[in-house]
Amino acid sequence: MSKYIYGIDFGTTNSALSILDKENNKIIKTLTEASILFFIQRQDSSEILSFVGQPAIEAYLQNGMAGRFMKSIKRVLPRTSFTETRVYNELYNASGLVTLILKYFKDKADAFLGENITEIILGRPVFFDEDPVKDSLAQTRLEKAATKAGFENITFQMEPIAAAFAYERTLTQNETVLVADIGGGTSDFTIVKLGPDKYKAGNRKQDLIAQGGIYIGGDSFDSSFMSKALTPYFGKDELYQSTPGKMLEVPGVLFDSITSWEKMNFFNVHKLVREIEKYHLLTKRSEKLMNLKILVEKNLGYSLFKEIENTKIQLSGADNSLFRFEKESISIARDVTIEYYNELIEVNINKIGNYLDAFLLKTQITPSEIDTIFITGGSAQVRAIQQLILTRFGADKLRSGDYLNSVSEGLAWSYYN
Ligand SMILES: Nc1ncnc2c1ncn2[C@@H]1O[C@H](COP(=O)(O)OP(=O)(O)OP(=O)(O)O)[C@@H](O)[C@H]1O
Ligand SMILES: [Mg+2]
Repeated sequence: MSKYIYGIDFGTTNSALSILDKENNKIIKTLTEASILFFIQRQDSSEILSFVGQPAIEAYLQNGMAGRFMKSIKRVLPRTSFTETRVYNELYNASGLVTLILKYFKDKADAFLGENITEIILGRPVFFDEDPVKDSLAQTRLEKAATKAGFENITFQMEPIAAAFAYERTLTQNETVLVADIGGGTSDFTIVKLGPDKYKAGNRKQDLIAQGGIYIGGDSFDSSFMSKALTPYFGKDELYQSTPGKMLEVPGVLFDSITSWEKMNFFNVHKLVREIEKYHLLTKRSEKLMNLKILVEKNLGYSLFKEIENTKIQLSGADNSLFRFEKESISIARDVTIEYYNELIEVNINKIGNYLDAFLLKTQITPSEIDTIFITGGSAQVRAIQQLILTRFGADKLRSGDYLNSVSEGLAWSYYN
């Protein structure tokens, strides 16, 4: 058995691997990468090249955005309706796609250590899905992916518990803590008793008071921005004459595939382009529908969502932002105030807030019994999320650490629990 073990946080947006040195009780390295895949077929042969993370983004841009781009693959794991997707002439099932990401991390970390590490603690959200059948399908698929990537001794740990263990390492006294991990795909909560020496006790079951989660995160905010603020630039609300004297709006389904990554990863480009062309003619060549056609045909989804994310990130630190997207003949520029942004994402924020209230009620723990709220996950930086926590618990109890690495480090630390 090696003296090293990996903690792997396979996230919707970002993934990370932390290497724990078990003998010296120390995390010696954390590798992070965006959970992105890109495939392209070589021109001189039929070989398919696949890329993960930043190299995937670079290959996508270098190839003029041609090729197959996939994001938020974690959300596919619980989908019973997803069996496989064709990438050029190869078929990939859900595990096969995730394997590429896990193997990328394994290869990098193994190369760093000069060893083949087969023991991992793998994170999972509290709920991949509310439906227990789908939830267990997701974990099975994730486990298969880890096996295919070359891991043998695989243990699962809840992501927010892992985040709690990371926070625990910073403590000098015992605390009852609510950990809120607001990620790209899910918002997870856990209430746990933490303390500086507690990890030595081994089994921590009695310290774990409650856990729960909801299937909403930063991706949902980006989807809301796209569908509410941007689809009008791509022809939503455009009218056409269906019969003499009768005007209709172009069908909303034209925009379904471009508002979320779950759909954008897998839609049939040719079929959608044909539909768009039909309505382009019916609307007497609406320029906005031409924007939609270009967006789909030229595979610009990632570039557009990157700008949506940039706007969101700017608004975490400022009251105003300029959303700008200029590609091919598409040109969109609009000011976005924090008030307008909050309106766009309000439905999601309310769902998270209502979930948290119900969660606290169920646990019968009052906010006064909680000493600290530790927030982590990239979306914990969204101001409406911070406000949601502040109104319930006040500013004094709020703590934050490393928004992006807490989970993978905590997964590695869970080796001791
Ligand atoms: N400064 C910021 N302000 C607002 N949102 C941010 C900021 N930085 C990152 N995000 C968002 O945080 C999300 C990613 O967070 P994180 O890496 O914790 O998620 P994840 O672990 O990949 O997802 P999950 O845990 O749900 O599977 C994305 O939606 C990203 O747009
Ligand atoms: Mg996460």
